[in-house]
Order: sequence, then C-alpha cells, then structure tokens
Amino acid sequence: MPTHTSPAQPAPQKCYIETSMSAPNSLFVRACKSQPAGRTPVWFMRQAGRYMPEYRAIRKQHSLLEICKKPALAAEVTITAAEFLGVDAAIIFADLLLPLEVMGLPFHFSAGEGPVIEKPIRTQEDVAQLRTDRAADLAYVSEAVSQVAKHFAGKLPVIGFCGAPFTLASYMIEGGGSRHYLNTKKMMYNSPAAWDELMRKLVEVTANYSGAQVRAGADVIQIFDSWVGCLSVEDYRRYALPHVTNLVKRLQQTAAPVIYFGTDSATLLPAMNETGAEVIGLDWRISLDKGWSDLNHRCAVQGNLDPALLFADWKKLKSSAEQILQLAAGRPGHIFNLGHGILPETPVENVKNLTRLVQEHSPIKPATRSRKAEARSPRS
Ligand code: CP3
Repeated sequence: MPTHTSPAQPAPQKCYIETSMSAPNSLFVRACKSQPAGRTPVWFMRQAGRYMPEYRAIRKQHSLLEICKKPALAAEVTITAAEFLGVDAAIIFADLLLPLEVMGLPFHFSAGEGPVIEKPIRTQEDVAQLRTDRAADLAYVSEAVSQVAKHFAGKLPVIGFCGAPFTLASYMIEGGGSRHYLNTKKMMYNSPAAWDELMRKLVEVTANYSGAQVRAGADVIQIFDSWVGCLSVEDYRRYALPHVTNLVKRLQQTAAPVIYFGTDSATLLPAMNETGAEVIGLDWRISLDKGWSDLNHRCAVQGNLDPALLFADWKKLKSSAEQILQLAAGRPGHIFNLGHGILPETPVENVKNLTRLVQEHSPIKPATRSRKAEARSPRS
C-alpha cells in the first residue's frame, strides 16, 4: 500500500484516513476534541530547533531546506525532539513557507535575515501567475509524516501543519518578515479583488497540502496565523476570516481536528472562534481563562506560557506553568504549550523539566472545580 495517496486517487479517501490516523485515541487527540483526557497533554511549537544540540549537529551538515526536503532527515529531526523531551505529540519538521515554492515563488534563508522571497508579489498580474496545481510536489512532507507515524506506530500522535492564508500572503507580499505589513495592507485596501484571489489560491494549495499530510498519518493539523495580530478586528473579519474559515472547513472534511493558532490575537478571539476550529491557540498576552471565556468555551484551547519564561529560574517557571494549569481548572480540552515557539537560546533542560511538570501535575477533578468555573462551562 502506498504511504500516501496521489491526487489521482481520491475515491477511498475517508476509509483511508481512518486507517492511517496514527494515534486517534491519544491524550492529545482527545484533548483536541474537548474529551476528558486523564491529564493535560503537552507539546511545544518549535520543539525541534536550534536550542537543541542534536538539531544543531544535523544543521552543520544540511541546510534547513535540505532537512525539510529529505523525508528521512525530517522524520529523524521530528522523532529525536519528541522522544528527547517526552512530549505528548510530535510536530512534523517542515517550514511554513514551503508551499510558496510550488506556487512559483522561490525563497531562501539568509543568516540573520530570516526568509527572503526572491520576487515578492505586488500586483494583480503577480497574483494571476501563481500556480495552484502543484501541491503534490510537496509530497516529501507527507512522506516524512508517514515515516514518523510508522515509527511511533500509534504510540504518539503526529501534528501536520500549514500557514494560514493571511500569514503566508504577508510573506509573499513583503518578501520576508515585516514590522508594519504596509505592502500587505496596501494590497488589501487598494486591490481587494487581487487580495481575495490570492487568498483563494492559498486556501486551495494549503488545503490540498494539509489533506495529504492527514492521509499520510497526521492526526491533527495546526494552522499557523502567526502575524494576524497586526489586523484590526474589522479588517480581520473582512480580509482574513472568510478565507481561513474556508480552509478550516476543507480540513475538517479529512476528519482530523484543526488547531488554529495566532499571536497578538487577544482582540480577535471571538472572530477566530467563528472559524469552527476544534482548538484555538492562545498567546501569553491574555490569561488562559479569559481567552477561553472569550471563546465561550466552544472549543479546546492550546497554550499559553510566554516562551521567555523558559529563561527564568525554575521557581518562577514552575509557578507560572502551575498558574496556567490552575486557570484551565481541569476542564476537558486544554493542551499545554507555549504562547509561541521555543526561542533559539532556550535552555534544553528547562523544556524537559517543564514537560515533566505538566505531565506529573495531578489532574483537577471536575468536582473540585470552583463554582465560578462550573458556571462558565456550558458543557459540564
Ligand atoms: O515546531 C516545530 O518543531 C516544527 C518545525 C517548524 C519550523 N518552522 C522549522 C524551522 C515550524 C512549525 C515552522 C513554522 C514557521 N516557519 C512559522 C510559523 C511558526 C511561528 O513561529 O509562528 C514561520 C513564520 C516560519 C518561517 C520561518 N522559518 C522563519 C521566520 C524562520 C526564522 C529564521 C531565523 O533565522 O531565525 C524560519 C526558520 C526555521 N524554520 C527554523 C526552524 C527550526 C530555524 C532554524 C534553522 O535555521 O535551522
């Protein structure tokens, strides 16, 4: 049996998905579905990265894009990080920007500058030239997912991921990272037809790309909308929400739960909730209970320790993590994570100790939860 289906064989999809899900009853997947999970699952965004000596050793031999494009290497990096930390899920090692290449926008990483998109798009004509028919060329990512799922054989769930249309568009238009997103906003405001076409194309490609990851064995898909917090609520509703909602709906057809993550997103949470994603990621700028209540407890939440706290002494780190667990109050559907990715200089031992702390934290039984917490929960 092939490890993943090609676009030419869509018919047995549903059945194939169910058989290829690697760990559908894991703590993590149960928490994503807001089901009681026994204890709080934990994993970290950027759990494989420069803070880890094993990763730096591989990076000495291979560029970042080489690792992404060689499934055996990407699988090794994914597995090594997840096993070393002992976390409850493995996120596939890839990069958010890979789909840009198959849409016709090559990029590279330059030291100190981050990603550089060689010919950023600025006009309607540029958008018209973007291709949407080559998502299958990203099959190296599905192949890595399949190798990781095979390795863990149902013992650990695998997270696939893609960028949200707004965040990917911001890289395509700005040509890299940005402070004010001026070129992105200029296209939104001055060429709304080009903007909408760009969003439609990004949804098409990322839905196919993530669907292939699920068919290869990813249990959950996380959509990263890392830079969406630069938008007002009104602009988010007009220019981003309809498109990311389409992406969420397309991914939900695969039966894998969807995590929708943004940063600087405190004001956007009620609108983000309308995407219908099973899990919403919270950053550290809002307290976990306030964020969850702004989502009306409709969904599960993931987060939300400030990544900088991993540089604090153990006493401070421990009390901050315990506070998040207390704010979650044992309610089903909390996945412990940081509010954004692990930073490059982070002490590895702190990440490992934090994992243990969360896993050893005694679950709070719903009966011992405060009346206030009960009153806030429409489900329990
Ligand atoms: O989380 C994981 O362990 C999986 C791996 C992963 C990478 N990138 C590998 C990577 C994930 C989930 C990403 C997502 C990603 N890539 C995002 C969204 C996540 C977020 O933080 O909000 C973004 C915006 C990108 C684009 C990107 N790739 C940037 C801005 C950078 C940093 C450039 C720099 O020099 O710091 C990268 C590089 C990158 N992608 C690294 C890793 C581990 C850095 C390490 C390296 O160069 O080897």
